[in-house]
Amino acid sequence: MCHRKEMLQIRPCTLDSLEEIVNLENLSFPDPWNKNMFRSDITSKHIELLGLWMKEDLIGYISIMILDDEASINNLAISPYQRGKGFGHYLMENVLSYLKAKKVIKIVLEVRVGNKAAISLYEHHGFRVVHTIPDYYKQPMENAHVMIKEMTQVD
Ligand SMILES: CC(C)(COP(=O)(O)OP(=O)(O)OC[C@H]1O[C@@H](n2cnc3c(N)ncnc32)[C@H](O)[C@@H]1OP(=O)(O)O)[C@@H](O)C(=O)NCCC(=O)NCCS
Repeated sequence: MCHRKEMLQIRPCTLDSLEEIVNLENLSFPDPWNKNMFRSDITSKHIELLGLWMKEDLIGYISIMILDDEASINNLAISPYQRGKGFGHYLMENVLSYLKAKKVIKIVLEVRVGNKAAISLYEHHGFRVVHTIPDYYKQPMENAHVMIKEMTQVD
């Protein structure tokens, strides 16, 4: 991490950040979520859309659904201008601590099988591939790995 941590802040996104989020999303995915999908994340009771800010700039976000002691990571992106600098690690570490404090014991996610950067990030943080869903993604069509992390209080 080459940036000082005090310049970074993770906090829930509000509707004020919608434009910035959608801009990052469009730069990050071939099949991006639209504004309404993020709007419903922000207003949903079970979903947390957390943003990572460097000073005033939104440089990443993660969408997590929490149902009792299980969570799923539904979206995650770091600005293409800020990748490879440890911000993905930083966001993931903080989110895992946050979920652990909420007594979450299992986290699930899906990822394109060709998304080496994301798979490597997830494996680094203790996720493992449990199965593969054929043609899960469209535009372009691709299989998904389902990855799971089980958390204990000693992790
Ligand atoms: C996946 C993503 C969030 C990683 O964010 P990042 O800030 O670039 O990641 P970091 O710099 O913190 O690196 C974290 C780890 O990711 C992996 N990684 C990052 N970039 C990588 C690359 N180009 N190739 C392979 N692994 C890579 C490595 O394991 C790395 O750890 P290491 O540097 O200790 O080896 C980012 O690439 C991204 O936003 N991609 C587009 C959106 C996306 O695919 N989201 C995931 C959807 S499931």
